[in-house]
Amino acid sequence: MSLLGKRILLIVSGGIAAYKALELVRLLRAAGCGVTCVLSRAGGHFVTPLSLQALSESKVYTDLFSLTDESEMGHIQLSRAADLLVVAPASADLLARMAAGLADDLAATVLLATDKPVLVAPAMNVRMWQHPATAANMATLAARGVRVIGPDEGAMACNEFGPGRLAEPPAILAAITALLAPAPGPLAGKHALVTSGPTHEPIDPVRYIANRSSGRQGHAIAAALAALGARVTLVRGPVTVPDPAGVTVVRVETAQQMLDACLDALPADIAVCAAAVADWRVAGAASGKIKKSPGAPPPVLDLVPNPDILALLSAPRPDRPRLVVGFAAETDALDENAAAKRLRKGCDWIVANDVSPATGIMGGEDNTVHLLTAAGIEDWPRLPKTEVAQRLAARIAAALA
Ligand SMILES: Cc1cc2nc3c(=O)[nH]c(=O)nc-3n(C[C@H](O)[C@H](O)[C@H](O)COP(=O)(O)O)c2cc1C
Repeated sequence: MSLLGKRILLIVSGGIAAYKALELVRLLRAAGCGVTCVLSRAGGHFVTPLSLQALSESKVYTDLFSLTDESEMGHIQLSRAADLLVVAPASADLLARMAAGLADDLAATVLLATDKPVLVAPAMNVRMWQHPATAANMATLAARGVRVIGPDEGAMACNEFGPGRLAEPPAILAAITALLAPAPGPLAGKHALVTSGPTHEPIDPVRYIANRSSGRQGHAIAAALAALGARVTLVRGPVTVPDPAGVTVVRVETAQQMLDACLDALPADIAVCAAAVADWRVAGAASGKIKKSPGAPPPVLDLVPNPDILALLSAPRPDRPRLVVGFAAETDALDENAAAKRLRKGCDWIVANDVSPATGIMGGEDNTVHLLTAAGIEDWPRLPKTEVAQRLAARIAAALA
C-alpha cells in the first residue's frame, strides 16, 4: 500500500484543529505524496500559508479572485491535478457550504468544481457536531459519496467533552491510504453494506427509546471487510465508538432512517446487519416535550412496528446482495430462536449471540457467537469483537470467492 506519487489537494478550513493540518502535511510528504494546500476563507486565521507552504514545499492557494492563478482557471486546475481532495479540518461552516453547493470562496468552489473523490475530517464543538443542521449536512454529503473520517470523541479546546475532535493525523493518513492505495484483498471490487449500533426512536423532542448496543461489533466488521479490500458503506446509529478509517459512514438515528440509508447504498454484494434496530417506535411522537403534571397519570406509549431491515434486504429483488448476514441477540433458546430467525427473515447466515446480562456481551469488548448457515451451526469460542469480525470477514470472503 503506497502513496508514492499520489497528489493530495488539502483544504484547511477555519477551526482550532487547523494546526494539526501541518502534521498531516508532514506525514503525507513523508509517505511520498505531493501536497497542495488551499486555505478556506477562515482557515488563514488559524494557520499561516507560510507554514503550510514550507511543509508542503508547494504554493498555497487562498484567493478565488487571484489574477495570476485565475488566468489559468486556477480553481478548476487545482482539483484536476489531484487524485484526492481532503478537507482537514472540515469546519461546520464549510461542510454546510459543501452540502448546499455554495461556491463563495476558493475552497468551496474547488469542492464544487471537482469530480475527484473527497474525504472530509470534521472538527468542531460537540454541540455544533450534534446539531441537526450539521447531521443533515453530513447525511447529504455521505449520500453524495463524500468519505468521512472521524470526528473522535474526547476533551476539546472549549473545555467540553464529546464527539467533535479532529481525527488524529495518522488516522487521516490511514483513511487516505485506504482510498488511494487499498490493500489488494480477496474482497477487492466488492461493495459491503454494514449496519451498526442502536437506533433511537423519539418519544418527544428530548426522550427516546434506545438499547444497549455499543456499535463495537458492527464497526469492527466494517473495518475487517475494508481490510480485505471491500468498499464498505457503514450505516450506523448513535454510538460513541470511533468510525473506522477508510469506510463511507452514514449516520442515522431511527430505524426508518437506517432503512432509507441502506436502500440508498444498494447495490451491494454483501450486507451485514449488525445494528440493534428497535423493533418498535412510538406512534406519533410528540412534537413538544411531554409535561409531567402533578396527579396526572404517566403517558401511555402507543408502539407500532418498525420496518424489518434484515427481512427487506433479504427479500428476493434484482439488487438483493449476494450474501445477507443477520444478527440474532437472544437471551433464551439461542440456537433454536436464531435458526427460526434465519428462515423467517430469508437471510443467508445468522450470527447468534447470547446477550443475557451475565455475559457482558451487550456493550462489552468480547463476544461468543454461533454462526448459522444452511449447512448447520458453528460454535465459536469467546473472542474479542475485533477477532469475531476478522473471522466473519474471512468466511464472507471465502463464500464469495
Ligand atoms: C477561536 C475560534 C475557534 C473556532 N473553532 C472552530 C472549530 O473547531 N470548528 C468549526 O467548525 N468552527 C470553528 N470556529 C468557527 C469558524 O471559524 C467559522 O464558522 C468560520 O466562518 C468558518 O469558516 P470556513 O468555512 O472558512 O471554515 C471557530 C471560531 C473561532 C473564533
